[in-house]
Amino acid sequence: MGPWGVTYPAYLTPDDDTGIGSWTEEQFSIALREGRYKGIKTTRQLLPPMPWDMYSHMTDQETKAIYAYLKSIKPIDNLVPNPVPPTHAMN
Ligand code: HEM
Repeated sequence: MGPWGVTYPAYLTPDDDTGIGSWTEEQFSIALREGRYKGIKTTRQLLPPMPWDMYSHMTDQETKAIYAYLKSIKPIDNLVPNPVPPTHAMN
């Protein structure tokens, strides 16, 4: 929780529905380095504390290595809640 409300960290196993199973390597790198939800350039900016601003310095090799590792682990179905804006979070 912070001034932005309440956020829940992304679930990053390669599950098709709730994880990064259907994401391309390109999407993963956009999420990580440009802070875009689902790695699509036109979606909302990812909220704190996801440190994407710092990750903007990652190289292609680094984002590809993280993507390859995450795609290699067991997919688990786990839906993470949507962020809650501050007005609701403070109730
Ligand atoms: C190499 C390390 C990390 C990777 C690969 C990573 C990856 C990601 C990705 C791909 C998303 C977007 C998920 C989506 O769009 O559905 C995300 C969101 C998020 N991450 Fe990270 N992350 C990392 C480190 C961190 C750290 C260190 C924190 C907090 C201390 C964090 C907190 C969050 C939060 C709260 C969100 C959700 C933000 C929102 O809903 O707007 N992440 N992360």
